Amino acid sequence: MRVTIYEVGPRDGLQNEAVTVPVEVKREFIGRLAEAGLSVIEATSFVHPKWIPQLADASELLEDLPKAPGVRYPVLVPNERGLERALEHGVSEIAVFGSATETFAQRNLNRTLESQFEMFAPVVERALAAGVRVRAYVSMCFADPWEGPVAPAQVVAVGRRLLDLGCYELSLGDTIGVGTPRHVEALLDAFGDGGVGPERLAVHFHDTYGQALANTLTALRRGVTVVDASAGGIGGCPYAGSATGNLATEDLVWMLDGLGVETGVDLRSLVATSLWLADRLGRPSPSRVVQALAKEM
Ligand code: HMG
Ligand code: MG
Repeated sequence: MRVTIYEVGPRDGLQNEAVTVPVEVKREFIGRLAEAGLSVIEATSFVHPKWIPQLADASELLEDLPKAPGVRYPVLVPNERGLERALEHGVSEIAVFGSATETFAQRNLNRTLESQFEMFAPVVERALAAGVRVRAYVSMCFADPWEGPVAPAQVVAVGRRLLDLGCYELSLGDTIGVGTPRHVEALLDAFGDGGVGPERLAVHFHDTYGQALANTLTALRRGVTVVDASAGGIGGCPYAGSATGNLATEDLVWMLDGLGVETGVDLRSLVATSLWLADRLGRPSPSRVVQALAKEM
């Protein structure tokens, strides 16, 4: 079995750090991630710069991304304006990001749950026509800080509509990190019943309650092979107050190495990168594996 790690540190991680790092640091971060063996690195987002000032330099960053043969650099795009900006830089992959709940659609996208699809439809259509692959996220798949628990059927309904637009994969986001393995099983079962198998799904766990790794293992056992993670466990989502960092890539790689699952990632090189970035962010990495291996380095 091989697992694809979809690295989101430069986007989901850096978008929520108090410190906005200079574009050269972002470039070096991405280059180091590629050197460590990560083959999919979400580089940045083309959202409104006032909403996410930390990534306002997306155009400048994309002018000169590290050359790394075979490495994919998707970017997050919410609307046609974002797509136009991304296409100016010749991107070959984008990701749109929907919400499973009404409140988060309004807070994160300034749209209703229903009108988010009207925003995404022309983005996906134009991207596909330009030969650009489109991934879709669904946020708040387990619970939402304003609406409480979210029914799996609601997530499946949103997710299917995003896939039907032409997205190749759906990444299931536990934006506030409250899910547990039983929730994960229930959600994957609901997708299966809705005709969406694990080969179309990825998982995106935030680690607020320390459940991200257990949830990931549950999804892997159900056949999911694409896992989102952020180096050093940095990140969150600024429009979901209680969200914390993503599953740390190092914690994931440690577990997968132990399971004998091929990732192609050099763990020590990745830890060195997270220690280097922590110095620039002015705070230690929350990853247990980074902390443990730092003592040996
Ligand atoms: P809006 O204010 O409704 O936008 O924001 P609008 O369409 O009304 O346009 C207003 C103005 O903004 C216009 O300028 C547009 O050109 C401009 P004007 O004509 O007034 O001068 N504009 C833009 N400028 C640059 N780039 C753009 C863009 N779009 C409009 N793309 C919008 C709607 C979607 C843009 C806004 O709500 C937004 O940017 N939201 C993004 C929030 C965000 O990035 N959140 C974090 C990412 S999601 C996440 O982290 C969750 C995830 O990790 C999964 C999980 O954990 O669950 C993916
Ligand atoms: Mg996220």
